[in-house]
Amino acid sequence: MVDTKTALSGWELDNPVIPASGTFGFGQEFAAFYDLGILGSIALKGTTKEPRFGNPTPRIAECTEGMLNSVGLQNPGVHKVIKEELPELKKIFPKKAIANVGGFSEEEYVYVASLFDKEEQIGLIELNVSCPNVHAGGMSFGTDPKKVESLTRAVKAAVKKPLYVKLSPNVTDIAEIALAAESGGADGVALINTLLGMRIDLKTKKPVLANKKGGFSGRAVFPVALRMVYDVYEAVHIPVIGMGGISRAEDVMEMMLAGASAVEVGAENLVDPFACRNMIRDLPRVMEKYGVKSLKEIIGGAHR
Ligand code: SIN
Repeated sequence: MVDTKTALSGWELDNPVIPASGTFGFGQEFAAFYDLGILGSIALKGTTKEPRFGNPTPRIAECTEGMLNSVGLQNPGVHKVIKEELPELKKIFPKKAIANVGGFSEEEYVYVASLFDKEEQIGLIELNVSCPNVHAGGMSFGTDPKKVESLTRAVKAAVKKPLYVKLSPNVTDIAEIALAAESGGADGVALINTLLGMRIDLKTKKPVLANKKGGFSGRAVFPVALRMVYDVYEAVHIPVIGMGGISRAEDVMEMMLAGASAVEVGAENLVDPFACRNMIRDLPRVMEKYGVKSLKEIIGGAHR
C-alpha cells in the first residue's frame, strides 16, 4: 500500500494532483465527468476585483504538443465568485480550493486576496503575478524582483492563509524572482505560468491571436518547467508547486523529484477531461513500479 499524501504549508492533501487555474473554471464543467472529490485540490480561475470579459477572439491557438492562450483574465469578479461560485463549488467539491488572485495594482491584489482569505473553502491563496495576456498587472509585476517582493509583502500583511506566488517563466532567472517572493514573505511559490509565444496564419499573413501573442502551455513545456522547478527548489526554503506540461502520473513523480510538493495540471485538462482522474488512478501503480512507498519522501529527491 503506497502513500500518495502530500502537504502544502501544513495543509494535508490526499494526493498532489491539482487542476491548474484557468483550465478548470470553477469546477462545474468537469463535475459531469468524474467525482471531483478525488482531486488533491482545485486552483480556481484567476479572479480580479471587477468582472472581466477578457481579450478579443481568437484567443486560443493550437500548437504542436501544446496551445497558446490569450484569455486575458476573463472572470466574473471576486464578489460574484464568492457569492455564487464558491457555494456551487461546495456542492461538487468537499475539500478546500486554491484562490488564484489577479490584479492591476497592489491595492487590487490586496483587496481580492483579503476577501478570499475570509472564506473557509479556500486553503491557500495563489498570487498570479505572471499572466502574460494583460498589458498592466500580471507579468509586468512578475518579471521585476523588486515589485514581486513588495507586492508579496503587501498581500502577506493582509492575509492569514498561506500565500503562494505564481511565477512567470518569461525571465532570465526564475530563481531570482522566487527568492524575491520568499523575501516578501511568501509561504510558497507555484511555477511555471505560460511561456510567451505566438503563431502566424499563412493565409492571412497575420498573427493568429487577436492579441498577437499569448501564453504557451502543454506537454511540450514539461522539460522546461521541470528544470525551472529544479532551479527554484535549490534557491528557496519554501514549498514549490510544480506545473507545466504534466500529462501523466510519471510526470507528477518527476516534478516531485525536482522539488515540487504538489503539482498543477493545466492544458492536459483541455486535451482530456479525465486527465487528473487518470493521473490519480495511475499514481499508486507507478509508485510501486519505481519502488516509491511515500510521495512525501521523494520531494526534491533528485537533488540528493
Ligand atoms: C489568462 O486569463 O490570460 C490566463 C491566465 C494566466 O496566464 O495567468
